Amino acid sequence: MTISRININQLFAKKLAGEKLAMLTCYDFSTASIMSQSEVEMILVGDSAAMVMHGENSTLPIDHQTIALHVSSVAKGAPNKFIIGDMPFLSYRKSLDENMSAVEALMKAGAHAIKLEGVNGNEDLIKHIVESGIPVMGHLGLTPQSVNQFGGFKVQGKSADAQARIIQEAKTLESLGCFSVVLECVPDELTQELVKHTTMITIGIGAGAAVDGQVLVLQDMLGYSSNFSPKFLRRYLNTEQLFLEAFNAYAKDVKAEQYPDESEQY
Ligand code: KIV
Repeated sequence: MTISRININQLFAKKLAGEKLAMLTCYDFSTASIMSQSEVEMILVGDSAAMVMHGENSTLPIDHQTIALHVSSVAKGAPNKFIIGDMPFLSYRKSLDENMSAVEALMKAGAHAIKLEGVNGNEDLIKHIVESGIPVMGHLGLTPQSVNQFGGFKVQGKSADAQARIIQEAKTLESLGCFSVVLECVPDELTQELVKHTTMITIGIGAGAAVDGQVLVLQDMLGYSSNFSPKFLRRYLNTEQLFLEAFNAYAKDVKAEQYPDESEQY
């Protein structure tokens, strides 16, 4: 059976029709299998996996081989979705050969596009990737791989100068052939201005409502942790509590010798 997959033309058609696009991160087969049955159009296999899947304090420690493994799991679980593989820290700041090997690994694992952060110094590579037939999504504003330069995970683009710079960066990304850009943690007034200057598909996280679509990190929107509460985050589930209740109910049954009962034995 052939499964029809949402493609880049359908994404642009939705944008042009004014239909908002829903994107979520995802990193594993089981969750992707559920997501494949949802209305979500785009799945980002993001470098946030470093933090939410591997317990790191930032996105820096993950490498492209690990992202590729996550892409491969997600691609098998959600063959009908448009999957974007995230280029991790420094994986696109090496030689062209090495950069393209990382791109190749993500695409061969099942991505339909790649995402990379920032513009300066990436221009030639972005052009080369686009000319290789691979859709590229940019990422501006709070680019978490630059957390050490920013001095923390902070809202970007607050001053008029910073806003003008980010709008210029978006124009550059578009001129290099990017089909889309993620805007992270920037004031709504910047987003409203930026969307007037681009035909790229704009996806926001903490960037207000003027974008074409939104993205959230799966574990954040599912409420895996009550400790992370940025202003933009809406929790759609209290997974922490639901999981805890299930884990404790199971432990209680095991300890009380109520699991397994007769019907659950061979
Ligand atoms: O890796 C990620 O989850 C991301 C989103 C925050 C856009 O890049």
